[in-house]
Amino acid sequence: MKCVKLEGKRNFQVGEIDEPISNNGEVIVEVKKAGICGSDIHYWEAGEPKGLVLGHEFAGVVLNPGNREDLKEGDRITALPISPCGKCPSCLTGNPQYCRETWTYATGLSLTNPGALAPKLKVRSDMVYKLPDNVSFEEGAMVEPVAVGLHAVHLADVKVGEKVLVIGAGIIGLVSAMFAKKEGASFVAISETNIERAKKAVSLGVADKYYDATNPDLIKEVMGDTTNGFDTVIECCGNSAAVSSALMMTKPGGQIILVGVSLGPITIPTVIGVMSELTIKGAIAYTKEEFKTCIDLISNKQIDVMKFVDDIVSLEEVQKSYERLTSGKDAAVKILVDPNK
Ligand SMILES: NC(=O)c1ccc[n+]([C@@H]2O[C@H](COP(=O)([O-])OP(=O)(O)OC[C@H]3O[C@@H](n4cnc5c(N)ncnc54)[C@H](O)[C@@H]3O)[C@@H](O)[C@H]2O)c1
Ligand SMILES: [Zn+2]
Ligand SMILES: [Zn+2]
Repeated sequence: MKCVKLEGKRNFQVGEIDEPISNNGEVIVEVKKAGICGSDIHYWEAGEPKGLVLGHEFAGVVLNPGNREDLKEGDRITALPISPCGKCPSCLTGNPQYCRETWTYATGLSLTNPGALAPKLKVRSDMVYKLPDNVSFEEGAMVEPVAVGLHAVHLADVKVGEKVLVIGAGIIGLVSAMFAKKEGASFVAISETNIERAKKAVSLGVADKYYDATNPDLIKEVMGDTTNGFDTVIECCGNSAAVSSALMMTKPGGQIILVGVSLGPITIPTVIGVMSELTIKGAIAYTKEEFKTCIDLISNKQIDVMKFVDDIVSLEEVQKSYERLTSGKDAAVKILVDPNK
């Protein structure tokens, strides 16, 4: 069957992949919608590993329920892409997101388990969740990134009245800002280098104010709006400039949640964290409970995720969509792929 494969630096090609077969009880899914994620962009920019079929945010229809007796052909589902071992101390204490195998064999992020940039995929049966009838495939494909933001805000334990800064207005930053507001933050700001995305964060109602991250007077402006910096800064970019700016914009004694990922080491002025006694926490993925909560929040209309969806494209348009998302000038945040389009 057709698929999109990583063939080199910033280079996708439409190619061929074997049809998935359920040989270990896995569920075979017809992909209806798949999301393009900032993490996928890191792989695309690095061009490695060659042959990777990305796509870890998806929703679709069951073709073969595998060993799931509660599922049948035609059921509408989404799934966690993670692949925890189930035996290590992290798995046994309910934190599969820390398990070493979780990412090594993740669906859509590993060569072993090709992702949703293809008409069909195979997924671990214990990771599959049914979608309620009122949750569309588009919304189903948004559950995964929304759960990342929920997890980050849970870890931040935002208090009513706090001032929160989110760095980066990609989907992860936008949903983190949305949940920080829901938790009762009195002022939520977004800092962005892409001014179109920054403005969008405010017009979508997830942030009260945006900062132009390229403004040389940024720190002065932030200090004017806060008392000595933000209580909590949620960093959703992962590069050196962004993490360094997080250190500078957090108030003494405040906290930084690191959500952004860098594939390589980066340089940051740790002395600021030392002198200001900052708490720095990493946030990776979500728990199964948080994933399920996001399905419920969408179904109950407590959050609107469709406002973040900018476009739905075919497999042939994936390369062009990645170029668009990395142009630094486009307001588009989330592009979904319909592999059967
Ligand atoms: N920890 C996790 O579990 C997890 C899960 C998903 C994604 N991520 C990571 O989170 C990050 C965000 O994901 P996304 O899908 O929103 O990505 P994205 O690429 O769409 O968004 C990143 C945004 O950061 C902005 N940016 C870059 N440098 C900046 C700076 N110095 N100051 C302000 N803004 C800056 C970019 O313009 C872009 O809009 C990525 O690094 C991704 O790999 C982490
Ligand atoms: Zn993702
Ligand atoms: Zn494990």
